[in-house]
Amino acid sequence: MIATLTWTADGVRFIDQTKLPLEESYVLAENYEQVARCVETMVVRGAPAIGVSAAYGIALGAMRSTAESAERFAPELAKICARLAATRPTAVNLFWAIDRMKARFAGLASAGLAFDEIKKKMLAEAQAMFEEDIAACKAMGAHGAALLPDEGGVLTHCNAGALATCGYGTALGVIRAAVERGKRIHVFADETRPFLQGARLTAWELMADGVATTVICDNMAASLMRQGRIQAVVVGADRIAANGDVANKIGTYNVAILAREHGIPLYVAAPWSTIDLATASGDAIPIEERPAVEVTHHGGKQLTPVGVSICNPAFDVTPARYVTAIVTERGVLRAPYSEALRGMESSEPALA
Ligand code: MRU
Repeated sequence: MIATLTWTADGVRFIDQTKLPLEESYVLAENYEQVARCVETMVVRGAPAIGVSAAYGIALGAMRSTAESAERFAPELAKICARLAATRPTAVNLFWAIDRMKARFAGLASAGLAFDEIKKKMLAEAQAMFEEDIAACKAMGAHGAALLPDEGGVLTHCNAGALATCGYGTALGVIRAAVERGKRIHVFADETRPFLQGARLTAWELMADGVATTVICDNMAASLMRQGRIQAVVVGADRIAANGDVANKIGTYNVAILAREHGIPLYVAAPWSTIDLATASGDAIPIEERPAVEVTHHGGKQLTPVGVSICNPAFDVTPARYVTAIVTERGVLRAPYSEALRGMESSEPALA
């Protein structure tokens, strides 16, 4: 399995996603600040992966702390959490993970445990989140595989695979599970300008698994749909609002409109940690604006005139009405999503 992020005795080891697919190299983050920089610079990316990275970052912050007691560590923890929370605003998994680690610390501290003991348990919590993420991806795969055709083209946008999670993937987990069950799926991977997660990362990880994959430029999807070469679309999500609106990689909304126009189902695969019932609709989801250089340059080479104005939102919102179904580890949800999401709020992960 691809080692997107790995806990080691020295810190968290990330496969460097800024270098793939031409170079397979790793970065070791030895403290929480280095974890934060890896998230900011997209060494590690993808909603579930950045959530678990933050959890490990907090565990590292506790382990490296010279505070003499849990009480003395509390203000340091607030600083660590604020730093990690400031890295990327859209994926709610990041805030979910930070809140879970904070709550774990608060519970352990109020139980009066020694700080050394608390450090161990915080690391164990981060490790549990890592394992739960893989299990959630496998369950999503099991639930979602049935939705895909026995044979045909499946379009995906960005990278919602092993590289975006702790392993197996969300959207790519559904595709992997369908292929494992004998479905003859041909994946079309949108290149996903400007960061090229599809062309670089999705293509790389699916090829490693021997899944038939063709990379297309983002502006080719409509034409392929019209030719009847795409039977389904599966994407991941960075945040799903209480009404079912989905924030995902910029360009997902375009794909959703195209899919609707061509009568093609669009499935969103995401773990429950991506669902944000506190946010009423997609309008309230903060959309990250990334540096202009991602658009103006490629591979260190300038593409645009010097000084031209650039707009680089990293995500867009697909209104719930375009989503055929949401696949989670708890099961498959269909519209109306407000009711479906509330109805599954306290369910446990379920195996299909
Ligand atoms: O900017 P990125 O690469 O972090 O964006 C990632 C996506 O938009 C993914 O589709 C999403 O996080 C789901 S990953 C399982």
